[in-house]
This record gives sequence, structure tokens and C-alpha cells, in this order.
Amino acid sequence: MQRYYFDHNATTPVSPEVLQAVTPVMTEVYGNASSIHYFGQIARQRLDEARRQIASLLSAKPEEIVFTSGGTESDNLAILGTARSGHVVATTIEHPAVLGAITQCASSTLVPVDGRGIVDPDDIRRALRPDTKLVSVMHANNELGTIQPIEEIAQIAAEAGIAMHSDGVQGAGKLPVNVRETGVAMYSISGHKFYAPKGAGALFVRKETKLTPTMFGGHHERDRRAGTENVPGAVGLGRAAEWIAEHGPSEWQRLQELRDRLEQDILDRIPDTHINGAGAPRTPNTSNIRFDGIDSEPLLIALDLKGFAVSSGSACSSGATEPSHVLKAIGLSREQARSSIRISLGRSNDASQVDALVDALADCVAHLRRIAPAIPAPAYA
Ligand SMILES: Cc1ncc(COP(=O)(O)O)c(C=O)c1O
Repeated sequence: MQRYYFDHNATTPVSPEVLQAVTPVMTEVYGNASSIHYFGQIARQRLDEARRQIASLLSAKPEEIVFTSGGTESDNLAILGTARSGHVVATTIEHPAVLGAITQCASSTLVPVDGRGIVDPDDIRRALRPDTKLVSVMHANNELGTIQPIEEIAQIAAEAGIAMHSDGVQGAGKLPVNVRETGVAMYSISGHKFYAPKGAGALFVRKETKLTPTMFGGHHERDRRAGTENVPGAVGLGRAAEWIAEHGPSEWQRLQELRDRLEQDILDRIPDTHINGAGAPRTPNTSNIRFDGIDSEPLLIALDLKGFAVSSGSACSSGATEPSHVLKAIGLSREQARSSIRISLGRSNDASQVDALVDALADCVAHLRRIAPAIPAPAYA
């Protein structure tokens, strides 16, 4: 059976050019980048080149890039490295990597978002306190794709003399990023969201930002993150960043056209269907769709059986399917959140795949509404 992948916000495959860059590094450039001999120096050169490529993607300086093991570590380092003993302001739709890290800080305030999934910068301003040490607001939401006004929020934080971190894991690779213009002090990225290997990420840390390490040992990464550097991972991240610099804008345009076609066809062909986050600025590849009267779990399984991989707006916790905190945060009821799925497009998807997905969705939704109206809904003949 032909299988189609529509879950690129969860992870992406390693691209051919990244694989080509990483493979020889794994076998030939095996020196420890801290060693002073030839092997170490070659590894160091490759690491420095990757650092320049990532800095260039973000409009940062190479020395402002700290390599990490991915988005979760970058978020934890940013938050615990600047605000562990203070108050943190974040939003209700942050990723668990941020929500989890802030529970380890002295106190925090979660600012709500509107029905589209966008935070109002004035609400962030009102949440600031004399003991606030950090504002952490994601660039783009992983479930809805909604883009937050981080530039305005960074300005508010700067006026109050507070550092701002942005979880850019769903921003980098899907949107232009310029940390200088945006004014954030820290920005997290993760390689596996943009065709680099898993377990490789980075944190941009503005030169003036004082960061306390969360990992201790050697003097790696200018004393900001101890541990022998993952050179192949960094090289993969760097090559992926270079690809985006060259092809990003045309690929984003292509994805947005595909996404718009997907949404329009679904709305036209399947009744009682809604786009979560509609009307908000969104990343070009992401669509979160609600089908009244459907439980997303059987829909996901039915689609998987036909060869289509999408994601549901629920997560299994302690044996029960819990609706997503993001969908609840935009005001959806438990039932509405449970009837939503996320489709996230990527490099392998084309118009014929999108058309095939819409056909499969129309079939599965009609079938499920007929046989298993899991959630009380209007009658479907
Ligand atoms: C917005 C956001 N932040 C952080 C993470 C965590 O990144 P990683 O999987 O690299 O730890 C993810 C991954 O899903 C994400 O979507």
C-alpha cells in the first residue's frame, strides 16, 4: 500500500542533502571537537561552519548559537538558565517543553489566547510583575500553526527590562526568522522539524543575555552547555539551515497553496467542518480541522488504514484520551477538541497526495458519522 506522510509538525525525514552532509562526518570526521590534534581540529571546523550556517538563518552571530540536543533542551536551558528563581510569563498554548520547564521556576503566569489562538501583547504587559525575570512566548504554535506577535511582545519585555525567550521550534524552517529585528533574547530551534536529524537543536542566546548553564562538566559551548558536541547533528542542522536560506520562501509559497487547496476542498466537500485557528496568521503548512460529530481517534486510525498519517488533537495520558490543552485554550469544548485533527504538510507532499487525502477524509468522515456517532451531533442521513 502506498503511504503518505502528513505529520511534518511532529517530525520530518532527513533530507537527501542533509544525509549527504552528515554521512561522511559520522565516519570520517570523528574527532572530538575539543581535541587539539588534526582530527579534533577538523571536527571543530565543521562545528564552526554549522554554527555560522545556523547564525545566518536566524540573523544572529555565530557566538550566539549554543548547540543542544533539541527543542526541549533549548527551551529548558533558556527558561531555567535565566529565570529559575523568579517569575515567568508565558501563554496557555506553549509546548509542554516550556510548560514543564516553568513549573521548575519560582512562579509563573499563563496568559490566555483568543479564539483564533493568538495572544494579545497587552495581556502580556499586564501579567508582568516586579519579580518577572522572563517572558516566554512561542513563535508558531505546533497544533494550530498560529503565529504569535513576538516582535511586539519582545518590545514590551525590553521596555520593562525583562528578557524574552521564544520557542521557535515550529517557526524556524517554516517562517522567516530574524532574531535581531524581532528583539528576542533567546530563540529555540530543533533540527528534526526541518529535515535535520533528531536529537540536534540549538538555542540562540543574545550576547548580552546572562545564562546560567543547566548542564555541568567541561567548558563546551563557551561554558553555556557542557558535553561533547554532536558534530554530525550540528552539521545536519547547519546544512538544513542552508537549504532553507536558499529554498525556504518558494517552498513556503508552494505549501501555503497546497494547504489552502486542502482546506477549501475539505470545507466544500465535507459538511459541518471548521478550521481551528482560521483568520489568524498561520505557518504555511499547518491545518487543524474539526469534524462535528467525529472522534478524532477512530478517524486517525481509519486514515492510517488507508495509508494517510495525520495527527489528532488529543494525547493519551494515564490511559485516558485527553483533549489538547491548546484546543481547550482557544475555547473549544472537550467534544470539539476531540473531533479535531492536525494535517501538517511538507516537502514530500504534492497536489495529487492532497487530493487523495481529501477523498479519504470524505469517505472516512461519512462512514464514521453513519456507523459510530461517538459524540452527540446533528443527525447525518
Ligand atoms: C513548539 C515545540 N516546542 C518544542 C518541541 C520539542 O522539540 P524536540 O522534539 O526537539 O525536543 C516541539 C516538538 O514537538 C514543538 O513543536
